[in-house]
Amino acid sequence: MFNRKTLLTVLFILLLALAGCGGQEAEPTATPAPDKPTAAPAAAVVGDAVAGETVYMGTCIACHGPDAKGVQGLGKSLYPADSEFVAQKSDDELVAFILAGRTPDDPLNTTGVGMPAKGGNPAITEQQLHDVVAYIRTLK
Ligand code: HEC
Repeated sequence: MFNRKTLLTVLFILLLALAGCGGQEAEPTATPAPDKPTAAPAAAVVGDAVAGETVYMGTCIACHGPDAKGVQGLGKSLYPADSEFVAQKSDDELVAFILAGRTPDDPLNTTGVGMPAKGGNPAITEQQLHDVVAYIRTLK
């Protein structure tokens, strides 16, 4: 007669076998590799404005204000009507800007005040940068 341990072992081996089959099945899906390079650029990171608002309220608010209209001596308004920079740059360009920040002596600097890289929050991920740009796009 089988004891509990033997039964469990048999079940475990069966599960492994099933998992093995699943793994092999997945391979044909991955085969059409020639299509991949053309598909890759289309798979750009998509920003989520709702998540971006949380990022904004956690980091950017300190200098750009609760309404993103700017704070005197700290950060500028991010409304496209107030900022040519925001209005003209693409989402990817804005992400690159926030990633790098802007030093006070940068030729593009208009206030003489610097913006730290990632708004000074090193924990911000690239996804969150795209999210916060999506949020900025909702400002009108
Ligand atoms: C420590 C203060 C500070 C924080 C925090 C900060 N910024 Fe800034 N930001 C600035 C300053 C100062 C400028 C203006 C620099 C200049 O004069 O060109 C600026 C400029 C910008 C600009 C360009 C505006 C323009 O018209 O040139 C964008 C976009 C921007 N910030 C987005 C963000 C985002 C998004 C965050 C949050 C992730 C953030 N900032 C956090 C200080 C800050």
